[in-house]
Amino acid sequence: MSFQLNSPLDMHLHFREGAMLDLVAPLSAHSFSGGVVMPNLVPPVDDVHRLDAYERQVRAATSPLGFEPYMTLFMRPYTSEELSELRDRIIGVKLYPAGITTHSDQGVKNMDDVADTLRMMEEMEIPLLVHGETQGFVLDREVEFLSTYEQLASRYSKLKIVMEHITTLDALRLLDRYDNLYATVTLQHLMITLDDIAGGLMNPHLFCKPIAKRPEDRDALLSAALAPHPKLMFGSDSAPHPRDKKECCGCAAGVFTAPVALQILVELFAKHNALDALQAFTSDNARRIYGVNPPKKVVEFDNCGDVIPERYGDVIPIFAGQSTSYAITRVDTEL
Ligand code: NCD
Ligand code: ZN
Repeated sequence: MSFQLNSPLDMHLHFREGAMLDLVAPLSAHSFSGGVVMPNLVPPVDDVHRLDAYERQVRAATSPLGFEPYMTLFMRPYTSEELSELRDRIIGVKLYPAGITTHSDQGVKNMDDVADTLRMMEEMEIPLLVHGETQGFVLDREVEFLSTYEQLASRYSKLKIVMEHITTLDALRLLDRYDNLYATVTLQHLMITLDDIAGGLMNPHLFCKPIAKRPEDRDALLSAALAPHPKLMFGSDSAPHPRDKKECCGCAAGVFTAPVALQILVELFAKHNALDALQAFTSDNARRIYGVNPPKKVVEFDNCGDVIPERYGDVIPIFAGQSTSYAITRVDTEL
């Protein structure tokens, strides 16, 4: 059976820089027509010069494949001049609490430090993208952060706020309580729980921030994606790390999913008789929420069976070496 998606979008991904970017960015650009490119580089993308240089690298690696990168800035206190200059070049500003995940040391320590910036973003209609975790006990970090989401959503009621990579039933409930809250969810959080990471033999390739939670959380997220929930967007959070940084003591957080995410999503939605919902989840919701109009790309899938590659260069993908039922059989891009 064949199935098509029009202009799929990945609303949260990490391309890195240099050789890693050259390896992973074309893999996303092959099957996606656009994506939100996260700014947590070292140093972070937080001024016009960094944005210029990074956007040039990203476009060089992706434009030939008909991919629109939606660039982001790393949250710090910005002036209104800076925001006015950059607003048309970015899709949003990404807020990381300091030290919460990979390359977030320069993140926000105190929300009051960015209060003026948030007010200006609200006025200029620049969305806020948030990595919503506290420094608390690892399984409670997202739920502990929900009160911060509530404060932000009520204090800045015209600000579009995207709760990135939600992992809990409680976050999902909050989504319905505030008009200006939206969310992304990853592939892995629709499929796995903490047991898949650490319940048996340790699997570092499934370890990411926020960590996968309980079965009831995973089931609620999956039901919302399959519905499809109109405020929920696919964002892979595909986060490549070289093999030696994953298969070691002190394993880096991040799951690499970009090149296989769509095939696995098609298999997952087909299994639940919900293929009709996948276009909204992987493209239409994001277009409506962000008001973007990505390049035209038709991606065709067939249930002819496939095997997930063991590695892409030095990076191990999710479910490496495992069988999948669907493969991408054609990509038509309008360049
Ligand atoms: C991401 C990375 O490696 O950049 N890691 C992760 O576990 N998701 C950062 C992030 O989104 O938290
Ligand atoms: Zn991320």
